[in-house]
Amino acid sequence: MPDGASVLGGVFVSTLTLTDFRSYERMRIDLAGAKPLVVLTGPNGAGKTNVLEALSYLAPGRGLRRAALGEVTRLGAEGPWAVAATLNVAGESVRVGTGLTAEGGVVSDRRVVRLDGVSVANSNMLGDRWSVVWLTPQMDRLFLEGPSSRRRFLDRLVLGLYPDHSRQVGAYERVMRERNRLLGDKGPGKGRDADPAWLSALEARMAEHAVAVAVARLDFAGQLAGQLAEATGGPFPRAELALDGWLEQKLAEGTPASDAEAALKNRLQASRRRDAAAGRAGEGVHKTDLVVTHAPKAMRADLCSTGEQKALLIALILANARLQAALKGLAPLLLMDEVAAHLDTDRRAALFDALAGLGGQCWLTGTDRALFDGLEDRAEFFDVGDGKLLPSHG
Ligand SMILES: Nc1ncnc2c1ncn2[C@@H]1O[C@H](COP(=O)(O)OP(=O)(O)OP(=O)(O)O)[C@@H](O)[C@H]1O
Ligand SMILES: [Mg+2]
Repeated sequence: MPDGASVLGGVFVSTLTLTDFRSYERMRIDLAGAKPLVVLTGPNGAGKTNVLEALSYLAPGRGLRRAALGEVTRLGAEGPWAVAATLNVAGESVRVGTGLTAEGGVVSDRRVVRLDGVSVANSNMLGDRWSVVWLTPQMDRLFLEGPSSRRRFLDRLVLGLYPDHSRQVGAYERVMRERNRLLGDKGPGKGRDADPAWLSALEARMAEHAVAVAVARLDFAGQLAGQLAEATGGPFPRAELALDGWLEQKLAEGTPASDAEAALKNRLQASRRRDAAAGRAGEGVHKTDLVVTHAPKAMRADLCSTGEQKALLIALILANARLQAALKGLAPLLLMDEVAAHLDTDRRAALFDALAGLGGQCWLTGTDRALFDGLEDRAEFFDVGDGKLLPSHG
Protein backbone atom coordinates (compact mmCIF):
# COMPACT_ATOMS: atom_id res chain seq x y z
CA MET A 1 0.00 0.00 0.00
CA PRO A 2 1.35 3.47 -0.84
CA ASP A 3 2.69 5.56 2.03
CA GLY A 4 0.15 7.45 4.03
CA ALA A 5 -2.93 5.63 2.80
CA SER A 6 -4.93 3.70 5.29
CA VAL A 7 -7.94 1.54 4.68
CA LEU A 8 -10.86 2.63 6.81
CA GLY A 9 -13.04 -0.33 6.05
CA GLY A 10 -14.89 -1.51 3.04
CA VAL A 11 -18.08 -1.41 1.05
CA PHE A 12 -20.71 -3.83 2.34
CA VAL A 13 -24.07 -4.39 0.71
CA SER A 14 -26.65 -4.73 3.46
CA THR A 15 -29.81 -4.91 1.35
CA LEU A 16 -30.28 -5.53 -2.36
CA THR A 17 -33.55 -5.28 -4.27
CA LEU A 18 -33.91 -6.21 -7.93
CA THR A 19 -36.99 -5.25 -9.90
CA ASP A 20 -37.59 -6.77 -13.34
CA PHE A 21 -33.88 -7.36 -13.58
CA ARG A 22 -33.03 -10.28 -15.95
CA SER A 23 -34.59 -13.43 -14.47
CA TYR A 24 -35.80 -11.61 -11.33
CA GLU A 25 -39.26 -10.10 -11.14
CA ARG A 26 -38.75 -8.81 -7.64
CA MET A 27 -36.08 -10.06 -5.31
CA ARG A 28 -34.78 -8.70 -2.03
CA ILE A 29 -32.01 -9.93 0.17
CA ASP A 30 -30.88 -8.71 3.54
CA LEU A 31 -27.42 -9.38 4.81
CA ALA A 32 -27.54 -9.25 8.54
CA GLY A 33 -23.92 -9.31 9.58
CA ALA A 34 -20.76 -7.95 8.15
CA LYS A 35 -19.20 -11.21 7.06
CA PRO A 36 -16.62 -10.58 4.37
CA LEU A 37 -17.88 -13.25 1.96
CA VAL A 38 -21.28 -13.80 0.38
CA VAL A 39 -21.59 -17.11 -1.45
CA LEU A 40 -24.31 -17.76 -4.03
CA THR A 41 -24.75 -21.35 -5.15
CA GLY A 42 -27.24 -22.92 -7.50
CA PRO A 43 -27.48 -24.84 -10.76
CA ASN A 44 -26.66 -23.43 -14.19
CA GLY A 45 -29.13 -20.77 -15.21
CA ALA A 46 -30.32 -20.22 -11.63
CA GLY A 47 -29.54 -16.49 -11.71
CA LYS A 48 -26.20 -16.24 -9.88
CA THR A 49 -24.37 -14.12 -12.43
CA ASN A 50 -27.46 -11.94 -12.78
CA VAL A 51 -27.08 -10.93 -9.13
CA LEU A 52 -23.42 -10.03 -9.63
CA GLU A 53 -24.36 -8.09 -12.75
CA ALA A 54 -26.93 -6.15 -10.71
CA LEU A 55 -24.21 -5.32 -8.17
CA SER A 56 -21.85 -4.24 -10.93
CA TYR A 57 -24.26 -1.38 -11.69
CA LEU A 58 -23.27 0.11 -8.34
CA ALA A 59 -20.18 1.26 -10.26
CA PRO A 60 -19.96 3.65 -13.23
CA GLY A 61 -20.12 2.17 -16.70
CA ARG A 62 -21.83 -0.63 -18.48
CA GLY A 63 -21.92 -3.44 -15.93
CA LEU A 64 -20.06 -6.73 -15.99
CA ARG A 65 -21.77 -8.09 -19.10
CA ARG A 66 -21.42 -4.78 -20.97
CA ALA A 67 -25.02 -5.38 -21.98
CA ALA A 68 -27.28 -3.00 -23.83
CA LEU A 69 -29.35 -1.44 -21.06
CA GLY A 70 -32.67 -2.49 -22.56
CA GLU A 71 -31.59 -6.13 -22.67
CA VAL A 72 -31.36 -6.20 -18.90
CA THR A 73 -35.09 -5.67 -18.38
CA ARG A 74 -36.86 -8.95 -17.57
CA LEU A 75 -38.54 -10.38 -20.64
CA GLY A 76 -42.27 -9.81 -20.34
CA ALA A 77 -41.91 -7.10 -17.67
CA GLU A 78 -44.18 -4.09 -17.84
CA GLY A 79 -41.65 -1.55 -16.64
CA PRO A 80 -37.88 -1.22 -17.00
CA TRP A 81 -35.33 -2.71 -14.60
CA ALA A 82 -34.17 -1.23 -11.32
CA VAL A 83 -31.54 -2.11 -8.75
CA ALA A 84 -31.66 -0.65 -5.25
CA ALA A 85 -29.11 -1.26 -2.55
CA THR A 86 -28.25 -0.06 0.89
CA LEU A 87 -24.52 0.05 1.31
CA ASN A 88 -22.48 0.37 4.40
CA VAL A 89 -19.58 2.54 3.31
CA ALA A 90 -16.98 2.70 6.08
CA GLY A 91 -19.72 2.66 8.68
CA GLU A 92 -22.00 5.12 6.89
CA SER A 93 -25.25 4.00 5.30
CA VAL A 94 -25.76 5.02 1.67
CA ARG A 95 -28.79 4.23 -0.49
CA VAL A 96 -28.12 3.69 -4.17
CA GLY A 97 -30.76 3.27 -6.83
CA THR A 98 -30.12 2.76 -10.52
CA GLY A 99 -31.94 1.56 -13.61
CA LEU A 100 -33.95 2.78 -16.53
CA THR A 101 -36.98 4.99 -16.21
CA ALA A 102 -40.16 5.06 -18.28
CA GLU A 103 -42.13 8.21 -18.82
CA GLY A 104 -45.30 8.07 -20.84
CA GLY A 105 -44.28 4.62 -22.04
CA VAL A 106 -40.92 5.86 -23.34
CA VAL A 107 -37.95 4.12 -21.74
CA SER A 108 -34.90 6.28 -21.02
CA ASP A 109 -31.79 5.51 -23.04
CA ARG A 110 -29.48 6.26 -20.12
CA ARG A 111 -29.34 4.69 -16.77
CA VAL A 112 -30.40 6.97 -13.97
CA VAL A 113 -28.62 6.99 -10.64
CA ARG A 114 -29.89 8.16 -7.28
CA LEU A 115 -27.74 8.53 -4.20
CA ASP A 116 -29.72 8.79 -0.98
CA GLY A 117 -32.78 9.64 -3.04
CA VAL A 118 -31.15 12.45 -5.01
CA SER A 119 -30.65 12.07 -8.77
CA VAL A 120 -27.08 12.57 -9.92
CA ALA A 121 -26.02 13.80 -13.34
CA ASN A 122 -24.36 10.60 -14.49
CA SER A 123 -23.11 7.25 -13.27
CA ASN A 124 -19.52 8.57 -12.91
CA MET A 125 -20.55 9.80 -9.47
CA LEU A 126 -20.69 6.16 -8.40
CA GLY A 127 -16.92 6.07 -8.75
CA ASP A 128 -16.27 8.89 -6.31
CA ARG A 129 -16.30 7.06 -3.02
CA TRP A 130 -16.14 3.33 -3.65
CA SER A 131 -15.04 0.87 -6.30
CA VAL A 132 -16.52 -2.34 -7.57
CA VAL A 133 -14.06 -4.88 -8.96
CA TRP A 134 -15.03 -8.09 -10.74
CA LEU A 135 -13.74 -11.23 -12.36
CA THR A 136 -15.92 -13.30 -14.69
CA PRO A 137 -15.38 -16.53 -16.63
CA GLN A 138 -15.46 -14.51 -19.87
CA MET A 139 -12.15 -12.97 -18.81
CA ASP A 140 -10.47 -16.40 -18.86
CA ARG A 141 -9.66 -15.98 -22.54
CA LEU A 142 -8.23 -12.50 -22.04
CA PHE A 143 -4.63 -13.39 -22.88
CA LEU A 144 -5.60 -15.48 -25.91
CA GLU A 145 -7.91 -12.97 -27.55
CA GLY A 146 -6.97 -9.96 -29.65
CA PRO A 147 -5.70 -6.68 -28.19
CA SER A 148 -9.17 -5.10 -28.15
CA SER A 149 -10.36 -7.32 -25.26
CA ARG A 150 -7.29 -6.52 -23.20
CA ARG A 151 -7.63 -2.83 -23.98
CA ARG A 152 -11.25 -2.94 -22.80
CA PHE A 153 -10.17 -4.82 -19.68
CA LEU A 154 -7.49 -2.20 -19.01
CA ASP A 155 -9.83 0.72 -19.65
CA ARG A 156 -12.38 -0.79 -17.31
CA LEU A 157 -9.74 -0.94 -14.57
CA VAL A 158 -8.52 2.59 -15.32
CA LEU A 159 -12.06 3.80 -14.64
CA GLY A 160 -11.46 2.95 -10.98
CA LEU A 161 -8.79 5.63 -10.90
CA TYR A 162 -10.17 8.05 -13.50
CA PRO A 163 -13.99 8.05 -13.44
CA ASP A 164 -13.94 10.20 -16.58
CA HIS A 165 -11.88 7.65 -18.54
CA SER A 166 -14.64 5.97 -20.54
CA ARG A 167 -15.99 9.35 -21.59
CA GLN A 168 -12.52 10.25 -22.91
CA VAL A 169 -12.19 6.92 -24.74
CA GLY A 170 -15.68 7.37 -26.20
CA ALA A 171 -14.96 10.93 -27.30
CA TYR A 172 -11.68 9.83 -28.95
CA GLU A 173 -13.45 7.04 -30.84
CA ARG A 174 -16.24 9.31 -32.01
CA VAL A 175 -13.84 11.87 -33.46
CA MET A 176 -11.79 9.07 -35.01
CA ARG A 177 -14.88 7.66 -36.74
CA GLU A 178 -15.76 11.12 -38.00
CA ARG A 179 -12.28 11.43 -39.50
CA ASN A 180 -12.53 7.93 -41.01
CA ARG A 181 -15.81 8.87 -42.70
CA LEU A 182 -14.47 12.14 -43.99
CA LEU A 183 -11.34 10.51 -45.39
CA GLY A 184 -13.04 7.46 -46.81
CA ASP A 185 -16.27 8.64 -48.36
CA LYS A 186 -16.47 9.62 -51.97
CA GLY A 187 -18.46 12.65 -53.03
CA PRO A 188 -18.29 16.40 -52.62
CA GLY A 189 -16.18 17.50 -49.68
CA LYS A 190 -15.17 13.92 -48.81
CA GLY A 191 -12.22 11.65 -49.52
CA ARG A 192 -9.68 13.45 -51.71
CA ASP A 193 -11.79 16.60 -51.58
CA ALA A 194 -12.00 16.66 -47.81
CA ASP A 195 -11.34 20.05 -46.29
CA PRO A 196 -7.80 19.92 -44.80
CA ALA A 197 -8.72 22.46 -42.12
CA TRP A 198 -11.61 20.31 -41.00
CA LEU A 199 -9.39 17.22 -40.96
CA SER A 200 -6.78 19.10 -38.94
CA ALA A 201 -9.42 20.14 -36.43
CA LEU A 202 -10.55 16.53 -36.05
CA GLU A 203 -6.96 15.31 -35.70
CA ALA A 204 -6.27 17.95 -33.05
CA ARG A 205 -9.25 16.73 -31.04
CA MET A 206 -8.23 13.10 -31.54
CA ALA A 207 -4.75 13.85 -30.26
CA GLU A 208 -6.12 15.75 -27.27
CA HIS A 209 -8.40 12.89 -26.17
CA ALA A 210 -5.70 10.34 -26.98
CA VAL A 211 -3.28 12.01 -24.59
CA ALA A 212 -5.87 12.06 -21.81
CA VAL A 213 -6.54 8.35 -22.41
CA ALA A 214 -2.86 7.39 -22.57
CA VAL A 215 -1.89 9.42 -19.49
CA ALA A 216 -4.65 7.77 -17.46
CA ARG A 217 -3.66 4.29 -18.65
CA LEU A 218 0.01 4.86 -17.87
CA ASP A 219 -0.66 6.31 -14.46
CA PHE A 220 -2.96 3.42 -13.62
CA ALA A 221 -0.55 0.77 -14.94
CA GLY A 222 2.27 2.31 -12.91
CA GLN A 223 0.22 2.29 -9.73
CA LEU A 224 -1.01 -1.25 -10.35
CA ALA A 225 2.58 -2.36 -10.96
CA GLY A 226 3.42 -1.07 -7.49
CA GLN A 227 0.77 -3.33 -6.00
CA LEU A 228 1.75 -6.29 -8.18
CA ALA A 229 5.36 -6.00 -7.09
CA GLU A 230 4.31 -6.57 -3.49
CA ALA A 231 2.81 -9.94 -4.35
CA THR A 232 5.95 -12.03 -4.11
CA GLY A 233 5.56 -15.70 -3.34
CA GLY A 234 2.09 -17.03 -2.59
CA PRO A 235 -0.02 -19.00 -4.99
CA PHE A 236 -0.74 -16.11 -7.34
CA PRO A 237 2.27 -15.20 -9.44
CA ARG A 238 3.63 -11.72 -9.73
CA ALA A 239 2.49 -10.25 -13.03
CA GLU A 240 4.34 -7.57 -14.93
CA LEU A 241 2.54 -5.10 -17.15
CA ALA A 242 3.53 -3.14 -20.21
CA LEU A 243 1.48 -0.93 -22.49
CA ASP A 244 2.22 -1.57 -26.12
CA GLY A 245 1.12 1.62 -27.84
CA TRP A 246 2.94 4.39 -29.68
CA LEU A 247 1.62 7.26 -27.59
CA GLU A 248 1.91 5.43 -24.25
CA GLN A 249 5.51 4.57 -25.18
CA LYS A 250 6.32 8.21 -25.95
CA LEU A 251 4.85 9.39 -22.66
CA ALA A 252 6.59 6.62 -20.74
CA GLU A 253 9.89 7.78 -22.22
CA GLY A 254 9.27 11.14 -20.60
CA THR A 255 7.99 13.13 -23.57
CA PRO A 256 5.87 15.99 -22.17
CA ALA A 257 2.16 15.50 -22.82
CA SER A 258 1.91 18.64 -24.99
CA ASP A 259 4.79 17.44 -27.23
CA ALA A 260 3.30 13.94 -27.47
CA GLU A 261 -0.05 15.46 -28.43
CA ALA A 262 1.55 17.56 -31.16
CA ALA A 263 3.53 14.56 -32.40
CA LEU A 264 0.41 12.39 -32.68
CA LYS A 265 -1.43 15.16 -34.49
CA ASN A 266 1.42 15.39 -37.00
CA ARG A 267 1.51 11.64 -37.49
CA LEU A 268 -2.22 11.59 -38.13
CA GLN A 269 -1.88 14.38 -40.66
CA ALA A 270 0.98 12.57 -42.38
CA SER A 271 -0.96 9.33 -42.62
CA ARG A 272 -4.18 10.67 -44.17
CA ARG A 273 -3.62 8.97 -47.53
CA ARG A 274 -2.78 5.63 -45.94
CA ASP A 275 -5.67 5.84 -43.48
CA ALA A 276 -8.06 6.74 -46.31
CA ALA A 277 -6.97 3.62 -48.22
CA ALA A 278 -7.23 1.42 -45.13
CA GLY A 279 -10.55 2.95 -44.07
CA ARG A 280 -9.28 3.42 -40.52
CA ALA A 281 -6.64 5.23 -38.49
CA GLY A 282 -3.40 3.26 -38.28
CA GLU A 283 -2.10 5.12 -35.27
CA GLY A 284 -3.54 6.00 -31.89
CA VAL A 285 -4.72 4.79 -28.53
CA HIS A 286 -7.35 2.53 -30.14
CA LYS A 287 -4.49 0.15 -31.02
CA THR A 288 -2.85 -0.14 -27.61
CA ASP A 289 -2.34 -3.59 -26.13
CA LEU A 290 -1.84 -4.59 -22.52
CA VAL A 291 1.08 -7.01 -22.34
CA VAL A 292 1.11 -9.19 -19.23
CA THR A 293 4.08 -11.32 -18.22
CA HIS A 294 4.32 -14.09 -15.64
CA ALA A 295 7.31 -12.54 -13.86
CA PRO A 296 8.78 -15.55 -11.99
CA LYS A 297 8.85 -17.52 -15.25
CA ALA A 298 9.57 -14.52 -17.48
CA MET A 299 6.83 -15.91 -19.70
CA ARG A 300 4.27 -13.97 -21.70
CA ALA A 301 0.79 -14.66 -20.35
CA ASP A 302 -0.51 -16.05 -23.64
CA LEU A 303 2.15 -18.77 -23.47
CA CYS A 304 1.25 -19.76 -19.90
CA SER A 305 -0.96 -22.74 -19.03
CA THR A 306 -4.69 -22.29 -18.50
CA GLY A 307 -4.28 -22.54 -14.72
CA GLU A 308 -1.35 -20.12 -14.76
CA GLN A 309 -3.37 -17.65 -16.81
CA LYS A 310 -6.21 -17.83 -14.31
CA ALA A 311 -3.75 -17.31 -11.45
CA LEU A 312 -2.27 -14.27 -13.26
CA LEU A 313 -5.72 -12.84 -13.78
CA ILE A 314 -6.54 -13.31 -10.11
CA ALA A 315 -3.24 -11.66 -9.20
CA LEU A 316 -4.22 -8.66 -11.36
CA ILE A 317 -7.68 -8.43 -9.84
CA LEU A 318 -6.36 -8.71 -6.27
CA ALA A 319 -3.71 -6.08 -6.98
CA ASN A 320 -6.37 -3.80 -8.39
CA ALA A 321 -8.54 -4.38 -5.32
CA ARG A 322 -5.59 -3.42 -3.08
CA LEU A 323 -4.91 -0.38 -5.25
CA GLN A 324 -8.52 0.76 -5.08
CA ALA A 325 -8.47 0.22 -1.32
CA ALA A 326 -5.33 2.31 -0.99
CA LEU A 327 -6.65 5.10 -3.22
CA LYS A 328 -10.07 5.40 -1.68
CA GLY A 329 -9.12 4.38 1.86
CA LEU A 330 -11.86 1.82 1.45
CA ALA A 331 -11.76 -1.77 0.24
CA PRO A 332 -13.82 -2.26 -2.93
CA LEU A 333 -16.86 -4.43 -3.39
CA LEU A 334 -15.63 -7.60 -5.11
CA LEU A 335 -17.65 -9.75 -7.49
CA MET A 336 -16.01 -13.06 -8.32
CA ASP A 337 -18.05 -15.17 -10.72
CA GLU A 338 -17.09 -18.86 -10.70
CA VAL A 339 -13.53 -18.39 -9.58
CA ALA A 340 -13.38 -21.33 -7.22
CA ALA A 341 -14.06 -24.14 -9.68
CA HIS A 342 -10.79 -24.04 -11.58
CA LEU A 343 -8.42 -23.77 -8.66
CA ASP A 344 -6.77 -26.58 -6.71
CA THR A 345 -7.59 -26.82 -2.99
CA ASP A 346 -4.58 -24.84 -1.76
CA ARG A 347 -5.05 -22.02 -4.26
CA ARG A 348 -8.74 -21.90 -3.45
CA ALA A 349 -8.02 -21.56 0.28
CA ALA A 350 -5.41 -18.87 -0.44
CA LEU A 351 -7.86 -16.98 -2.62
CA PHE A 352 -10.58 -17.05 0.03
CA ASP A 353 -8.07 -15.81 2.61
CA ALA A 354 -6.96 -13.00 0.32
CA LEU A 355 -10.53 -11.97 -0.50
CA ALA A 356 -11.71 -12.10 3.10
CA GLY A 357 -8.63 -10.16 4.18
CA LEU A 358 -9.14 -7.18 1.89
CA GLY A 359 -11.43 -5.48 4.39
CA GLY A 360 -14.57 -5.29 2.26
CA GLN A 361 -17.27 -7.60 1.02
CA CYS A 362 -16.74 -10.16 -1.70
CA TRP A 363 -19.51 -12.00 -3.54
CA LEU A 364 -18.67 -15.44 -4.89
CA THR A 365 -20.69 -17.79 -7.07
CA GLY A 366 -20.46 -21.47 -7.85
CA THR A 367 -22.59 -24.41 -8.85
CA ASP A 368 -21.12 -26.62 -6.15
CA ARG A 369 -21.57 -25.80 -2.46
CA ALA A 370 -18.69 -28.14 -1.54
CA LEU A 371 -16.17 -25.70 -3.09
CA PHE A 372 -16.94 -23.33 -0.24
CA ASP A 373 -16.82 -25.80 2.64
CA GLY A 374 -15.08 -24.45 5.70
CA LEU A 375 -16.09 -20.83 5.08
CA GLU A 376 -19.08 -20.93 7.43
CA ASP A 377 -17.57 -18.42 9.87
CA ARG A 378 -16.60 -15.96 7.19
CA ALA A 379 -19.42 -16.29 4.67
CA GLU A 380 -23.18 -15.92 4.32
CA PHE A 381 -24.62 -18.56 1.99
CA PHE A 382 -27.58 -18.29 -0.34
CA ASP A 383 -29.28 -20.86 -2.56
CA VAL A 384 -30.22 -19.31 -5.88
CA GLY A 385 -33.18 -20.50 -7.94
CA ASP A 386 -36.75 -19.75 -9.05
CA GLY A 387 -36.07 -16.01 -9.07
CA LYS A 388 -35.18 -16.04 -5.38
CA LEU A 389 -32.21 -16.13 -3.05
CA LEU A 390 -32.79 -18.19 0.07
CA PRO A 391 -30.38 -18.15 3.00
CA SER A 392 -28.78 -21.56 3.39
CA HIS A 393 -27.08 -22.89 6.44
CA GLY A 394 -24.88 -25.62 5.11
N1 LIG B 1 -33.78 -10.07 -19.83
C1 LIG B 1 -34.00 -11.29 -19.32
N2 LIG B 1 -35.25 -11.65 -18.94
C2 LIG B 1 -35.50 -12.86 -18.38
N3 LIG B 1 -34.54 -13.78 -18.19
C3 LIG B 1 -33.28 -13.48 -18.55
C4 LIG B 1 -32.94 -12.23 -19.12
N4 LIG B 1 -31.62 -12.21 -19.38
C5 LIG B 1 -31.15 -13.40 -18.98
N5 LIG B 1 -32.12 -14.16 -18.47
C6 LIG B 1 -32.03 -15.52 -17.93
O1 LIG B 1 -31.46 -15.50 -16.65
C7 LIG B 1 -31.10 -16.84 -16.34
C8 LIG B 1 -30.04 -16.89 -15.28
O2 LIG B 1 -28.83 -16.43 -15.82
P1 LIG B 1 -27.46 -16.37 -14.99
O3 LIG B 1 -26.40 -16.07 -15.98
O4 LIG B 1 -27.57 -15.49 -13.83
O5 LIG B 1 -27.33 -17.89 -14.47
P2 LIG B 1 -26.20 -18.53 -13.57
O6 LIG B 1 -26.84 -18.97 -12.31
O7 LIG B 1 -25.05 -17.61 -13.44
O8 LIG B 1 -25.81 -19.81 -14.43
P3 LIG B 1 -24.37 -20.49 -14.78
O9 LIG B 1 -24.07 -21.40 -13.63
O10 LIG B 1 -24.68 -21.27 -16.00
O11 LIG B 1 -23.38 -19.42 -14.96
C9 LIG B 1 -30.79 -17.51 -17.66
O12 LIG B 1 -31.59 -18.63 -17.83
C10 LIG B 1 -31.13 -16.44 -18.70
O13 LIG B 1 -31.77 -16.96 -19.82
MG1 LIG C 1 -23.13 -17.65 -14.19
